[in-house]
Amino acid sequence: MTSHRLVDLLGNPEQYSKVKVKGWVRTFRANRFIALNDGSTIENLQCVVDFEQTAESILKKINTGAAVEIAGELVESMGKGQSVEVLVKSIEILGEADPETYPIQPKKHSFEFLREKAHLRVRTATFSAVMRIRSVLSFAIHQFFQNKGFCYVHTPIITGSDAEGAGEMFRVTVLDPKNPPIDEEEGVDYKKDFFGKETNLTVSGQLEAETYAQGLGNVYTFGPTFRAENSNTTRHLAEFWMIEPEMAFCELEGNMDLAEEFIKYTLNHILEKCEKDLAFLDQRLANEEKTKPQHERSPMGLIEKIKFVVENDFKRISYTEAIDILKNSKPNKKKKFEFLIEEWGTDLQSEHERFLVEKHFNAPVILFDYPAKIKAFYMRMNADQKTVRAMDILFPGIGEIVGGSQREERLDVLEKRIEEMGIDKEELWWYLDLRKFGSTPHSGFGLGFERLVLFATGMGNIRDVIPFPRTPQNASF
Ligand code: 4AD
Ligand code: MG
Repeated sequence: MTSHRLVDLLGNPEQYSKVKVKGWVRTFRANRFIALNDGSTIENLQCVVDFEQTAESILKKINTGAAVEIAGELVESMGKGQSVEVLVKSIEILGEADPETYPIQPKKHSFEFLREKAHLRVRTATFSAVMRIRSVLSFAIHQFFQNKGFCYVHTPIITGSDAEGAGEMFRVTVLDPKNPPIDEEEGVDYKKDFFGKETNLTVSGQLEAETYAQGLGNVYTFGPTFRAENSNTTRHLAEFWMIEPEMAFCELEGNMDLAEEFIKYTLNHILEKCEKDLAFLDQRLANEEKTKPQHERSPMGLIEKIKFVVENDFKRISYTEAIDILKNSKPNKKKKFEFLIEEWGTDLQSEHERFLVEKHFNAPVILFDYPAKIKAFYMRMNADQKTVRAMDILFPGIGEIVGGSQREERLDVLEKRIEEMGIDKEELWWYLDLRKFGSTPHSGFGLGFERLVLFATGMGNIRDVIPFPRTPQNASF
């Protein structure tokens, strides 16, 4: 008999009688009741051991964390808490877990503790639910773009350019750090390096995606990106996954429409496909909220929040309008913001974004037309010569989830921007070529995948929605 997955057994129990299951023991109670989980669902399967028929040597090894194979009969359960259970006919211990040293015991562990045990934390209900939702979300992302005829492009991980012009890159080199070759100017001679030039891990696949959009029309990338920014926050990773669509013949409005439709599609997808995991995480969040003082509690539960985003229009306002709202806001007038909004042109901090989203509009917000000075070189200059066709999507509890723009398609304007910002034009010769040959108005955006997962799962820290987080001073596992 092949073994059965718990998700199938528990989904249609009437179809099964004799069963074989394999999984890990979550708990073993009264020398009789195993709560078994195999990772296919949030639900455990109760397996009832007849201890009189089972060797003492086996009973001793049925410990939390042990891997077991069980054959038996699926029957209606007499007990509370489950509708069916397995009467165990035979049990084999496939992998023991020493109760003295196995760290994931059946009690509440803090997320901080579990981060140190990142290789084992997926055996908890919370992390397995988060990781299943992460998987379903990634599939929904591909499905959304594939349904729309977008072409999936694999942009390079190793690049020679700094797509965001922010200088926050991890260098890729094979040179000996103790004894690098030196050039005529006494600097490191990267001509002698593997690629014959300076290279780094990509911060974004956008520039390469743009080249492919200018031949395939609509494309997207979905891959890992790397940023060496020293941001030790609950929203930043040094290695994160980003979804970046890029569309030829598309202006900013079309870009905003696509981003909004895209987010709603993926969230709606998990409402349909991840009901049990979401219900569990909804409850987890509700319990966590209860420990907070009243005024800090979120007025909405997790599922309610997701539905709210799916069902309501995002608010669209310009940066200039946002500054007016913020300038006249209570926290600004009462000097409650850490960074007070005094003049047009300043970058928005997360406290400002959260005020707009959570207090003022109480909805996701798309902010557009930012000052050119605070945005990347590739964004299209507006007629006012002060603002660019940028758009950021801000989410409750998260802040910025999407950053995008209409791209500068005019060669002369782009070259001027690159020079003004002191960026190396030579490196971008191929990017400039796109503006010389068949240039089109085009747009795209980047959605930080982990920020979407953070929102979708109601977790509080981005380190808990990626299997092995990379953050400053931390690259274990
Ligand atoms: O706003 P960003 O920097 O935009 C770009 O990289 C553009 N090239 C995208 C494009 O137009 N194709 O980053 C996009 C998104 C952010 O909105 C945020 O969600 C996420 O990437 N992000 C991070 N997520 C986790 N950790 C970090 N350190 C992140 N930095 C950005
Ligand atoms: Mg951004």
